[in-house]
Amino acid sequence: MEEELLRLKSEALAKLASISQVGELEDFRVKYLGRKGLFTGLMRSLGTVSTEDRPRVGKLANDVKQEVESEFLIRQGSKEGSGQALQQKVVTDLSLPGRALPLGRLHPVTQIMEEVCAIFEGLGFEVAEGPDVEVDFYNFEALNIPKHHPARDMHDTFYVSDSVLLRTHTSPMQVRAMEKRQPPLRMIAPGKVYRCDSDITHTPMFHQVEGFLVDRKVSFADLKGILSIFIARIFDEHTSIRFRPSYFPFTEPSAEVDIACVMCGGKGCRVCKQTGWLEILGAGLIDPEVFKKIGYDPEEYSGFAFGLGIERIAMLKYGINDIRLYYENDLRFLSQF
Ligand code: FA5
Repeated sequence: MEEELLRLKSEALAKLASISQVGELEDFRVKYLGRKGLFTGLMRSLGTVSTEDRPRVGKLANDVKQEVESEFLIRQGSKEGSGQALQQKVVTDLSLPGRALPLGRLHPVTQIMEEVCAIFEGLGFEVAEGPDVEVDFYNFEALNIPKHHPARDMHDTFYVSDSVLLRTHTSPMQVRAMEKRQPPLRMIAPGKVYRCDSDITHTPMFHQVEGFLVDRKVSFADLKGILSIFIARIFDEHTSIRFRPSYFPFTEPSAEVDIACVMCGGKGCRVCKQTGWLEILGAGLIDPEVFKKIGYDPEEYSGFAFGLGIERIAMLKYGINDIRLYYENDLRFLSQF
């Protein structure tokens, strides 16, 4: 048995040394080290060795098998080996196409935001940006919404302190711009706004674009003209729109603008709450009280303002029925845009 083990060892090591092709290594492993291989066979016959000799012969059998195994691993170049990996012939096929890298793209909300801004810039509006963390004065007080005014209920506000908050709309930018500049003004203010609100058409953080124009003799017809052009460009010229009387403390008269629900074509569904219409923006003529707070003469100047929701427009344009999908970061959803 001992002789047979030593003979098998030298045979196996000689065979290993002569191997030049990677494929032959597997044949070697099966023949010598596999479950039905020669070493396993010999070890199974240890039972025939006398009890007295069995410890010595057993140890030899283990040592021999381990030596062959470690030599095999070295030849195979595996992690267990010492690095003398078998030389493999590496073939480089220069005609293979390169590997495509994953392509990043803009978030659909960013895409719509850029499109909206480009339309208004094309109509001569300048872009202004302001802070997300706002003071009560600009978000409410200067917009004719004093403390305890019932209109504050329209905004579920995230307060930082008694007088500091996350802006609930982009309208504070009207005041910030008018404070610094004299008419004529024609501006848009895009940005993030925050409200404690969440369902299939509302998210706690969303994007608005505020637009305002102040000059002499600005009328509601100018507002309707600009918004009709905008809606025809962002959707298409056949999109039905309606101006619905509404109320904002900083505009008089005020309106909300709806477009026909793109999900149901105006028939009524879950998304439009069975009304057939979806509100996309609020608008109106700037209230003379706002002008007075800034120091503009309301007898001399008039103006209009509007504030639109970007996610709402993105939902309508892409036929998305749940606004929250935009913020779940699911690449299967986002990469479609
Ligand atoms: C305002 O925020 C006014 N500041 C708009 C305005 C500006 C009126 C200038 C007059 C003059 P409103 O709360 O309706 O209005 O919001 C405007 C738009 O933002 C809505 O039409 C809707 O499209 C969108 N919006 C409102 N709340 C949410 C929300 N939680 N999630 C997503 N979009 C929203």
